[in-house]
Amino acid sequence: MCDRINILYEKKPCYDIVFSKDFHGLVKELTDLGIKDRKVCIITDSNVSSLYGDEIMRILDGNCKKNVLFTFPAGEENKTLDTIKDIYTFLIQEKFDRKDLLIALGGGVTGDITGFAASTYLRGIDFVQIPTTLLAQADSSIGGKTGVDFDGYKNMVGAFYMPKLVYMNVGVLKTLDDRQFFSGFAEIMKHGLIKDGMFYEWLLEHMYEICDRDMDTLLEMVERSCNIKKLVVEKDPTEKGDRALLNFGHTIGHAIEKYKNFTLTHGECVALGAVAAAFISWKHEWLSKDEYYEIRDMFVPFNLPISIEDIDPQEILKLTKSDKKMEGDSIKFVLLKKVGKAVIDRTVTDDDILNALSEIHYIEDCE
Ligand code: GLY
Repeated sequence: MCDRINILYEKKPCYDIVFSKDFHGLVKELTDLGIKDRKVCIITDSNVSSLYGDEIMRILDGNCKKNVLFTFPAGEENKTLDTIKDIYTFLIQEKFDRKDLLIALGGGVTGDITGFAASTYLRGIDFVQIPTTLLAQADSSIGGKTGVDFDGYKNMVGAFYMPKLVYMNVGVLKTLDDRQFFSGFAEIMKHGLIKDGMFYEWLLEHMYEICDRDMDTLLEMVERSCNIKKLVVEKDPTEKGDRALLNFGHTIGHAIEKYKNFTLTHGECVALGAVAAAFISWKHEWLSKDEYYEIRDMFVPFNLPISIEDIDPQEILKLTKSDKKMEGDSIKFVLLKKVGKAVIDRTVTDDDILNALSEIHYIEDCE
């Protein structure tokens, strides 16, 4: 028996998120979606294909009309319209029609690409998310954001399109490499900071179990984190208001990610952006000095950076302004009123950002 929550869309039940420690419950979940008479295409990247592609194909064997696997080369650089075109071509060759189904098997890139292909192929076919990274489980597989990067801009082209099911198997996190695991953890920490101070405390208390990847702890952590995201996306599914709170740490984080040419993980950049935003929140006299330092230092045991070398603060400031989080000329900056309560603020100045960047800028002492 798996734990599950249902996500509402426009106040109506929309899709279940199922939490499990293995794939044993997957076939029943897919059968309940009526795959027996449908063709199913698993879309995955070259890394995940060799890890779980065969396993999921075997699970589908005999349980659906036909199952096929589409693999694209791994990497954010392939989150493009070219990959979407390859998927359309493959689906047409395999004669997929509107009642068939796509499965996104992988991390955030795979989920975003598959969701976008599903939202547009034949004006929309069903899709299921099987996220295999902590980043995808905690964040990108929930809430229906799909899309691709365009002309160097992240997620510039896309659609809100809801999956029919999200199947979270935390067992896959056991083999995730450390950097990817902790990258996902940054989004989990973000959920506690913006909405749930008790969850933030729980994360601090369970630091050792989380780092050891104790399965029961990870299951509880992912479920609690998803429940926070559920509340946010149900209230504001298309980011007209409060969903933007999920961008805490992302304004400066995305700018650093781009400045460093995607050589840092997304979570590493979010951690740096979160430290900078917490610093500004302290300077606004919303957080105390002790709270700021506790938040900053909390990232350290989870192998996430709190400072960075070799940045040009003016360039990063410029990049924050080309981000989608601009509204007219003002940046919608997410700050913390207190631990567990974020707000959108439009008063953050260039000087505030430059001061925060100098706080996280590590300059080696040559003497
Ligand atoms: N990753 C932020 C959101 O889903 O809105």
